[in-house]
Amino acid sequence: RAVFILCFLSCFGFLSRGEFIDDTITYGSFPPGFIWAAATASYQVEGAWNVDGRTPSIWDTYVRTPGMIADGSTGDDACLSYYLYEQDIQLLKNMGVSHYRFSISWSRVIPNGVGESNPLGIQYYKNLIAALKAAGIKPMVTLYHWDLPQVLEDQGGWQNPDIATWFEAYADLCFEQFGADVEYWITFNEPWCQAYLGYGTGSKAPGITESGTKDYIAAHNQLRSHAKAYRLYELKYKQTQNGKVGITLNISWAEPEDNSTASIDAAERSLQFAGGWFANPIWGNGDYPQVMIDLIARKSTAAGLPQSRLPVFTETEKTELRGSADFFGLNFYSSEIAKEELFDDTLVNYSTDKDVATYQDKENWYGSASSWLRITPWGIRRMLNWIKNRYNNPDVIITENGLSDRNGYLDDSMRIYYYKYYINNVLKAIQDGANVIGYTAWSLMDNFEWERGYLERFGMHYVNFTDPAKPRVPKSSANYYSRIIQKNGFVP
Ligand code: NOJ
Repeated sequence: RAVFILCFLSCFGFLSRGEFIDDTITYGSFPPGFIWAAATASYQVEGAWNVDGRTPSIWDTYVRTPGMIADGSTGDDACLSYYLYEQDIQLLKNMGVSHYRFSISWSRVIPNGVGESNPLGIQYYKNLIAALKAAGIKPMVTLYHWDLPQVLEDQGGWQNPDIATWFEAYADLCFEQFGADVEYWITFNEPWCQAYLGYGTGSKAPGITESGTKDYIAAHNQLRSHAKAYRLYELKYKQTQNGKVGITLNISWAEPEDNSTASIDAAERSLQFAGGWFANPIWGNGDYPQVMIDLIARKSTAAGLPQSRLPVFTETEKTELRGSADFFGLNFYSSEIAKEELFDDTLVNYSTDKDVATYQDKENWYGSASSWLRITPWGIRRMLNWIKNRYNNPDVIITENGLSDRNGYLDDSMRIYYYKYYINNVLKAIQDGANVIGYTAWSLMDNFEWERGYLERFGMHYVNFTDPAKPRVPKSSANYYSRIIQKNGFVP
């Protein structure tokens, strides 16, 4: 009968799945002083979208464009953290985190994008930082988490090269106003998403669909802006404030489909087009990865264009970019399988430029509420080793990692499973020699998940979106995470 049951189970793929579930746990501690954090972002939690002088950002416009948000919702109220931040801090305190990662809303502090600052907007972040300090929690602050002031988008947004000076002035204000209490600054959150999804596919604000051209320009101007902010801090604030400035990149691990050179090269190209696009200018030679330069030039010629669709940095920009980060922020969620696919060279699109096809193993990797997110704990270890090997082992802070579900159950055992195995694979990567100095869970609480609205919940705390003023409720994962923090690792 046992044989029969085994055959029955294997027919449904349960046994092969076990290969991924049965990842062994390594016991051990994280390095002393390891950063344990939880994260949110301004538009996803603050609400109060038109309060105290805040002007609309591109997301306020996007959510009001019919058909853009899956459940027709907005971030007008979100978690109401503009009013309830003290409750948020209490949750952080209960979990025992050392740092809280949040972002500043540009249109709250400089309503016109440039020029005059808004004292009420500044006061909100001062209050938040002061309350964190009183609770013994350090801020890790993102300057740009996708909510560009709409007035700046009206002038071309990330397409306009002048944005580097606009961003520099915004960063200057933030460093000046908040810098005394901020140890970690993140200039940009996931510039890949802002570039490709914002200006390429249009699935995020500002909803422009010109891939192969505008996404490369948006990335270029974010990189130029990042370097300007980094150099400004270095020159004007480093000596007195002594903080660290980095950038956060999102990369999915790309596993070659097989052992062929074609698949191995395709997986590497996939990583270069996603991570290397931003990492090579900063941790490499100050320029885009050679494989991007070559492929996009070739395909631009094939399409009859007079020059490459990939913009070119000046020598000064390359010098400013090279070495412009004190740590590597990594947002990691999932993995893909990559194989070579040779697309028509005359196509104009980021996704065909790389000549790679990727997919996920739907049969063997557990899914989530998010179509792109499947559970691959082993991927984070490979990713961290890739960063170590490609970029001379920089200090890495995992600035996001987490799992979505649809129902918001308080007994979120799948999320516990996810955190347990992912965090354990971070420990394994540290034992492999990767310089990981911190880990951040996404997210502190359920929040506005961009174009998916409130359908996908990533929180360790439940938020009632019918009445977000109701107290947030800890899920079992909050408890689990706090135990890992307390032990600083995995103790048998
Ligand atoms: C990346 C983004 O930074 C964050 O805003 C988003 O909610 C999570 N990933 C989950 O998709």
